[in-house]
Amino acid sequence: MVSAERASWVPDSVDMSRPNAARMYDFFLGGAHNFEADRQAAQAVLAVAPEVQDAARANRQFLRRAVRYALGRGIRQFLDLGSGIPTVGNVHKIAHAADPQTRVLYVDTDPVVVGHARALLAATDTAAAIEADLRDVAGILGHEQTRRLIDFDRSVAVLLVSVLHFVPGSAGDLAGVLWELMRPAAPGSLLVISHASEVAATEQTEAVRLLYGRTPTPLHLRSPAEIRALSGGSWSPDKAASPFLTGFLAGAAHQPAPPSVDAASTTGAVSAGLRPRNNARFSDNSRARGVPGTPAVRRESRMAPTTGRS
Ligand SMILES: C[S@@+](CC[C@H](N)C(=O)[O-])C[C@H]1O[C@@H](n2cnc3c(N)ncnc32)[C@H](O)[C@@H]1O
Repeated sequence: MVSAERASWVPDSVDMSRPNAARMYDFFLGGAHNFEADRQAAQAVLAVAPEVQDAARANRQFLRRAVRYALGRGIRQFLDLGSGIPTVGNVHKIAHAADPQTRVLYVDTDPVVVGHARALLAATDTAAAIEADLRDVAGILGHEQTRRLIDFDRSVAVLLVSVLHFVPGSAGDLAGVLWELMRPAAPGSLLVISHASEVAATEQTEAVRLLYGRTPTPLHLRSPAEIRALSGGSWSPDKAASPFLTGFLAGAAHQPAPPSVDAASTTGAVSAGLRPRNNARFSDNSRARGVPGTPAVRRESRMAPTTGRS
């Protein structure tokens, strides 16, 4: 938002003078839904870490790949947590291009994000946005819009793209949250994660961390091992990840198939090296065949929480 005037989708409660991660990300992507304070903070980040802009774009491309992958597996429900300000290539746009009946629920803590998403979705019956913290699993799963749009007896893609590094707490606590989120999901569901990682503390990451410390959602970088462990131990990395995503870990975990699944019949994903459920309802995607390095199928019927290293 270039004008300092309060747009109709900006609630009165929003402090436009304080930078905000959602709107800084919008600025990195070249969007127009950011204020002067966001632009200044984003430019300060780019001054110390210019690659952040390319990383934001690469992350967005990963999101689109993951959505198309899920659609290719027959998934027609998306729970997008930390969805961000709607911008080009939104989940519902990609999903509805493939199947207008696909259900999409956006969840974000930021009232600006939710206000804008609601305005955008006003005429859409198959997608909605709710304001919630992703750690409020009971509140999200019990929300009337969730119950209206998402049927957990059918497979669902749970998207946590570039959001978990804004969520405080130990990796173990976070794994517990993801376990609660995925527990009701049917086999064949997907957990999609991209997460900024920190292999070693540098002056650059410290400077970026300080800048995000001025926003309501400071950065909580985690180690690659901690991030992989969030998947419940079945992490499959995005093999097409751009070099700009080097500071990110991007990939997905497949909700484990039931014990009857024949491991030899599973395939990998084009970009994410994921494992599909062997379910006749879901037509196979020939593009997804033959990707090497697909790990063995786990036999549990639901994802179990892991707090240790993978
Ligand atoms: C960088 S944006 C990512 C947007 C989108 N997922 C993408 O990758 O293009 C991060 C979003 O996460 C939201 N967020 C941060 N902490 C959150 C939390 N605890 N629960 C829900 N959303 C959160 C922010 O408001 C912001 O909109």
